[in-house]
Amino acid sequence: MNQTIETILKRRSTRSFVKRPLDREELKMIVDCALHAPSGMGRQTWKFTIVENREKIQRLARAAGEALGREGYDMYDPEVLIIPSNEKDSPFGMEDNACAMENIYLAAESLGIGCVWINQLRTICDEPRIRGILNEFHIPENHVVYGLAALGYRDDTVIGPKERTGRTEYIR
Ligand SMILES: Cc1cc2nc3c(=O)[nH]c(=O)nc-3n(C[C@H](O)[C@H](O)[C@H](O)COP(=O)(O)O)c2cc1C
Repeated sequence: MNQTIETILKRRSTRSFVKRPLDREELKMIVDCALHAPSGMGRQTWKFTIVENREKIQRLARAAGEALGREGYDMYDPEVLIIPSNEKDSPFGMEDNACAMENIYLAAESLGIGCVWINQLRTICDEPRIRGILNEFHIPENHVVYGLAALGYRDDTVIGPKERTGRTEYIR
């Protein structure tokens, strides 16, 4: 089995992180992999905002928790967020960003870095407090965040394989 397929097959979401800064070169490699994802018509209308400040991450998480009525929500207290955003009226924005998210997941897995998809912002991006924080992060006003990646080194929790129940059928 080649390394790419091995990484795809063993990738799992991580929801428990240790408090240790990520290697910046590795973080930049992960972001570069996001930039190399496919995008509809190659338009690349996305932006990737990397938040490497735990306090700022928690401010966003708290605001999201309050908007969603989930007190104490902390996005699993990660070391870093990669926030892919895209133009609200891009016809491919959601798909493009999902492709980038998968590249982030796989690049992180290949480097031994934990990652989980956080879906909570998509419906609340334009709530004033959330938009205020997105503005502070220089995320364009006309951008939406569909999903974002929380990253960090995994704690010792063993994550085994997950049963895959999706159906397949080959027609010959
Ligand atoms: C569109 C999408 C939204 C997701 N949202 C969340 C989320 O908000 N919080 C979370 O903990 N995991 C989230 N996940 C991760 C899934 O729960 C996870 O991929 C799934 O349970 C399979 O587990 P695995 O990633 O370990 O293979 C999301 C995944 C996708 C693709």
